[in-house]
Amino acid sequence: MTPTDELSTLEAQAGVDLASVADLAGLAEWKSRYTGKSGALTRALRSMGSVPAEQRPEHGRRLNALRERLEAAFDEAEARLKAAAQAAELAADQIDVTMPGHAPALGHLHLTTQVLRQVEQIFAEMGFQVWESPEVEFDDLNFSQLNFPSDHPARDMQDTFYVEMPPEAPDVLLRTHTSPGQMHAMRRYAPEPLRVLLPGKVYRNEQITARSEMMFHQFEFLAVGHHITMADLRGTLSFFAERMYGPGTKVRLRPSYFPFTEPSAEMDVSCFLCAGKGCRICKHTGWLEIGGCGMVHPNVLTNGGYNPDIFSGFAGGFGPERIAMLKYGIDDIRNFYSGDVRFVQQFG
Ligand code: DAH
Repeated sequence: MTPTDELSTLEAQAGVDLASVADLAGLAEWKSRYTGKSGALTRALRSMGSVPAEQRPEHGRRLNALRERLEAAFDEAEARLKAAAQAAELAADQIDVTMPGHAPALGHLHLTTQVLRQVEQIFAEMGFQVWESPEVEFDDLNFSQLNFPSDHPARDMQDTFYVEMPPEAPDVLLRTHTSPGQMHAMRRYAPEPLRVLLPGKVYRNEQITARSEMMFHQFEFLAVGHHITMADLRGTLSFFAERMYGPGTKVRLRPSYFPFTEPSAEMDVSCFLCAGKGCRICKHTGWLEIGGCGMVHPNVLTNGGYNPDIFSGFAGGFGPERIAMLKYGIDDIRNFYSGDVRFVQQFG
């Protein structure tokens, strides 16, 4: 084969190969095979010495012309393949802006928090300010200062979790009720009159059942001032009950016992489902028990820094979970904190 024939064969082969190149990677390979540093064209240039001297200028021109053609073919193929790659990418990446989107899942307040906020709002209308007090509390404030001496049998109803402390340190526990908050508030404001609402978590060492959890919430209300009577307590409760359960809701106080109030009462509201006629929720009594209350015991006033000959007050403690359970017909308190969103999301 003459050198010229060789070039023709080379060009023909390059053309066939280029036609079968399908992508940019294939094209890069083609380039190194033909026009690259150690490609066929370079090898042809190096073998110039074997071409008879008189044919060399012509052969050189042919070689150069071939290089130009191959490079032009390369450029054309490159542009074509790049455009095809881009078109393929765009096609694969297509966004259909008319497709319905995914709505982000918005959270909402937990049912207990919703009830507490509602309660805070109602009491705020009556001039009660929200006060937070510690969940980890001295035994002394949780019990003794509230008129439960250490051997008092009423302590048995409120077993709790104790914090490990050095032997000489005072006993520290997880509060069993929000009532110790009364002591914090009184000591902060005495001898000024006060009205506070104390919401928060409380703890009991209890068997967990449909009716009792080891952690739940309470809110406590406390008013201390001059000439405060049980009629003020009743009026406050009636206002609360009508706001919480609807106009016409009645309040009933039944004599009871708490160490820190005297007299003490359980508070019932007329059943909002049957309006007092009797139904399954109120167990056919027409009434629902929602909390305890009473006139602040003189010992408690004294411990809080008030002179009981001059000051009087009322207080009460309620469970927002119980209020919510009655209102929404929830029959198992464990639903509140088991973390099952199917429960939580019903109250969004
Ligand atoms: N602390 C009581 C309890 O957890 C509830 C209570 C009753 C609070 C009477 C009060 C009250 O302030 O006056 O069972």
